[in-house]
Amino acid sequence: TGKFTYDPGFMSTASCNSKITYIDGDKGELLYRGYQIQDLATNCDFLESCYLLLKGELPNATQKKEFDDLVMHHTMVHEQMQFFLRGFRRDAHPMAVLTGLVGGMAAFYHDGLDINDAHQREVSQIRLIAKMPTLVAMAYKYSVGQPMIYPKNNLSYTANFMQMMFATPCEEYKVNEVLVRALDRIFILHADHEQNASTSTVRLAGSSGTNPFAAIAAGVACLWGPAHGGANEACLQMLEEIQANGGVEKIDDFIAKVKDKNSGVRLMGFGHRVYKNFDPRAKLMRETCYEVLKELGLENDPLFKLAMTLEKIALEDEYFVSRKLYPNVDFYSGIVQRALGIPTEMFTCIFALARTVGWISQWEEMITDSEYKIGRPRQLFVGSPTRTVQPIAKR
Ligand code: CMC
Repeated sequence: TGKFTYDPGFMSTASCNSKITYIDGDKGELLYRGYQIQDLATNCDFLESCYLLLKGELPNATQKKEFDDLVMHHTMVHEQMQFFLRGFRRDAHPMAVLTGLVGGMAAFYHDGLDINDAHQREVSQIRLIAKMPTLVAMAYKYSVGQPMIYPKNNLSYTANFMQMMFATPCEEYKVNEVLVRALDRIFILHADHEQNASTSTVRLAGSSGTNPFAAIAAGVACLWGPAHGGANEACLQMLEEIQANGGVEKIDDFIAKVKDKNSGVRLMGFGHRVYKNFDPRAKLMRETCYEVLKELGLENDPLFKLAMTLEKIALEDEYFVSRKLYPNVDFYSGIVQRALGIPTEMFTCIFALARTVGWISQWEEMITDSEYKIGRPRQLFVGSPTRTVQPIAKR
C-alpha cells in the first residue's frame, strides 16, 4: 500500500533507543554500558557485569558484596518446582524443560508480578539471575537421572553452578579456579548483544505488560532456534562428524564441500551478520580455550587439534578471506564447554543462563521508557481482495 515500510528481518529498523550495549561490526567492537568486552572479560566477574548491565555503572566494593550476597541468597527455587520438573519426560530436550521452568516461575513468585512496582521488578530480576543456574542444573540432572544438587551459597555464582551440575550426593565437586573463570567468561561474553532475536522477543512480549517471567520464557524459547543459540551445538557436531569421517586428513574434502554452494554445508562457527572483520568475543574465547585445555592436559585432544587445523586452513583460504568470514565466539565456546564436561545438548541452556541478565536489563529499560508502547508491527497485505461466503453446497 506504500503506507508502511517493508523490512523483513528488521534489517534497517531500529525498534528502540537503548543505552545498554553497543556493537560496531566493522571495527569488531562490543561494549556494555561503554566498557569494551575485552576490558570486562579481563577485569570483572560475571556478577559485576550483571550489575553493570542492570544498573548502568560498575559496583564499588561495598555494592559488589551486597549484590553478590543478594543474588546468592536467592539461589534456591521453590521446592514444589521439583514436582513440576518431574512431569517432563526424561528424554525431553533441556531447552524444552528450561522454557517451561522459567515460565513456571510466575506461578511461584506472585510477589514479583506487578510490573508497575519498581521494588517488585527488582526482586524478580534478582530472582531470575539467581535461580537460572539452579533451573539449568535441575534440567541437566533430571536428564541424566541424577538427584538435584542444592545450591551452595558460600561459593561464587559460577562455582556454585558447576557444583550443582557436577557434584553428586556421593561426591563433592572440587572447585578448579581456572575452569570456573573460563565458564564465568563464557557468561560475560554472552550476557548481552543488543537487539538480537531473543532480546527483541523479550521486549515484544514484555510490551504487552506481561510479567517478567513470562517475557523471559519467551526469550528462552526464541534462543532455542538453531540460527540463534543453537550455533555452538551445531559447530561441535560438525567437528565430531569430520572427526568420525577421518579427522584432520579429511579437512580439505570438507572445505571443498563448504565451497560447493549446492551442498548446503556451511563452516559452522564462521561468519557473522554484524561482525565483518572479527568477533571480539571469539578472540577472548580462543584464549580461554587454550587455557582450559592446558589446565586439563587436553592440548593433544584430537577434536581440538582438528578445530585448530580447520581454523588455520580457513583463515588462509581465499573463499573465506574474500567473504570476510572469521571464526565467531561459537567456534571456540563449544570446545571449551565440552572440555568442562558440559554435554552438547546443554550448550543453549548455558547461553540462556548468561543472556538472562541482558534480557531483563533490556526489559527494565523498556518498562521505564516514557515512550514505550505495545509492539505492534504492521504488514503489507498480499492476500485475497474482499469476497463473500458462498453457501457450503456451492463451494
Ligand atoms: N560457511 C561458508 N560460507 C559462508 C558462511 C559459512 N559459515 N557464512 C557465510 N558464508 C558465505 C555465504 O554463502 C555467502 O556467499 P556468497 O556471497 O558467495 O553467496 C557469503 O558468505 C555471505 O553470507 P550471508 O549468508 O549473506 O551472511 P549473513 O550475514 O547473512 O550470515 C551467518 C551470517 C552467521 C548466519 C553465517 O555466516 C553462518 O551461517 N555462519 C555459520 C553459523 C554460525 O556460526 N552462527 C553463529 C553466529 S555467532 C552467534 C551469535 O552472535 O549469536
